[in-house]
Amino acid sequence: MSNSDLWIRDIITSYGLSSLLLVLLTIWISRKWSDLQKTIYKAYLTGFEVECSELATSYKKHLFKSLQHIVSSDNVLRSMNCIRLLEIGVKTGENIQFYPDNTHLIGVDRNVRLAEYLIKGNRSWQFSHIIIERVIIGDGSSLKDVPTGYVDVVVTIRSLCSVTSIQSTLQEIRRVLAPGGQYLFIEHVPANEGTFIRYLQKILSQTGIWPSLFGGCHLDIDPITHIKNAGFDNVISATFTLDGYVSQSFHLALSRQHVLGVAVR
Ligand SMILES: C[S@@+](CC[C@H](N)C(=O)[O-])C[C@H]1O[C@@H](n2cnc3c(N)ncnc32)[C@H](O)[C@@H]1O
Repeated sequence: MSNSDLWIRDIITSYGLSSLLLVLLTIWISRKWSDLQKTIYKAYLTGFEVECSELATSYKKHLFKSLQHIVSSDNVLRSMNCIRLLEIGVKTGENIQFYPDNTHLIGVDRNVRLAEYLIKGNRSWQFSHIIIERVIIGDGSSLKDVPTGYVDVVVTIRSLCSVTSIQSTLQEIRRVLAPGGQYLFIEHVPANEGTFIRYLQKILSQTGIWPSLFGGCHLDIDPITHIKNAGFDNVISATFTLDGYVSQSFHLALSRQHVLGVAVR
């Protein structure tokens, strides 16, 4: 046997088993990838996102205060002193507690278990102060079941980052709002250009790693630029930083900066 043959034999003996294990692990992960993604995403929605929602409570209270002064464009609802509100990415109804009594809600989410959460779930009693007019399981960028000018308010909270097309979603939001209707939003925004966090946000989003694990979320999208270009009559916004304890501080570090605002149709 030549020296090079001995060298190859040594490599196979030393690394053969670990290489085989690596190949088997890769095959196992690729087979289980879809289940793994679902498990990670579910844990994120029911864990980190709920913690984030609690941290944002004071900002939400501030934003939703304006709902008390909105007058519905629908004659019947106006006579009953209530409004029609559509929320995209309504999830398990974290924001419903802030909606005024008798609000007529259209909930949109691409989660197929939406109706189960909002209507039949254990927590549905918490929503008894509102009327769930309709649940739509689908993408926020296509609201074809909702007539033009039909709603008084549209809400998105940390959801624009995951829609299929942010431009189409904003066009749909504008279309379904009645003239003078309001779009209320709280969305995460990228960190300042040139920072390490911004670099991570770009890498994780553009490689597809982050969206594939967290329901299509893109950390590098700047929602406010899109909202300002969507043709609303008036956009008022302010930025803020979400601070406080969460179990996944790395996740918060990547989606800490936010914009809160109102766009008027
Ligand atoms: C991060 S959660 C935010 C939940 C809620 N808005 C809140 O404030 O707690 C994002 C929600 O948007 C939903 N979502 C993601 N992509 C969507 C899409 N393309 N169309 C509609 N909903 C979507 C997810 O299923 C999830 O319920």
